[in-house]
Amino acid sequence: MTAPGRPADDPAGDPSRDLSGDAAVRATYDTIAADYDRGGWVRAPGRALDRALLAAFAAAVEPGRPVADLGCGPGHVTAHLAELGLAPSGLDLSPAMVARARRRYPDLAFAVGSMTALDAADASLGGISALYSTMHVPTGQLSVLLAGFRRALLPGGPLLLAVFEGDGHRDVREWLGHEVFVRFHYRPRATLVAALEAAGFVVDVELVVHPSPDDRRRHHLLLAHRRPSDPSTDGV
Ligand SMILES: C[S@@+](CC[C@H](N)C(=O)[O-])C[C@H]1O[C@@H](n2cnc3c(N)ncnc32)[C@H](O)[C@@H]1O
Repeated sequence: MTAPGRPADDPAGDPSRDLSGDAAVRATYDTIAADYDRGGWVRAPGRALDRALLAAFAAAVEPGRPVADLGCGPGHVTAHLAELGLAPSGLDLSPAMVARARRRYPDLAFAVGSMTALDAADASLGGISALYSTMHVPTGQLSVLLAGFRRALLPGGPLLLAVFEGDGHRDVREWLGHEVFVRFHYRPRATLVAALEAAGFVVDVELVVHPSPDDRRRHHLLLAHRRPSDPSTDGV
């Protein structure tokens, strides 16, 4: 199983820049958009398990409810969700990614924006997917991110996450032949599960895919849902 364009390491990093900030993430994905957009991992023969989890996610969405694909990149996952019968829209920080998604899938809605500031109304989304896109959010800000997801989701609504498993962070300066400046944050599986539970989610399924020869890290896919009723946090 190959990663979606695995970046190269740069342990030295550049401490003078905020590599986790929106500006760094946006500039990085704007720079690599054309090379990243090679048809989409979601259609690759080796990703059958991922598609099975996407199908389980789709089956858990209340019919007719809008679904947000956060950090949608070039929109291939968003389009796959539409093929599964959902009504998804894509959101991404990178205008270049959103432009590519719009060109490829003109019938779908894509917007530029941040998953850290969702403008969806409370309990309005039938489901949220965020595949390989939450890794730029520092672990210290994870609870705020997940609280935002929970707020926007319908009680019982599913959340599908995919990340690379690990611990700590990695600063990347070269990716797909381009100079970039961005930080990836990795968390142990237990950290992500605990953060989800603390934010009001129930974790239903975890899928851990061990690395193939050209893919050093384990993929961690996680299907959860918003806990239907929680008196301590309802109304938040
Ligand atoms: C590795 S790509 C994954 C794209 C797509 N989800 C996929 O699986 O092919 C990560 C995407 O997340 C976006 N992203 C990162 N942080 C974001 C944020 N805070 N809000 C919205 N998009 C973000 C990036 O711009 C990039 O397009």
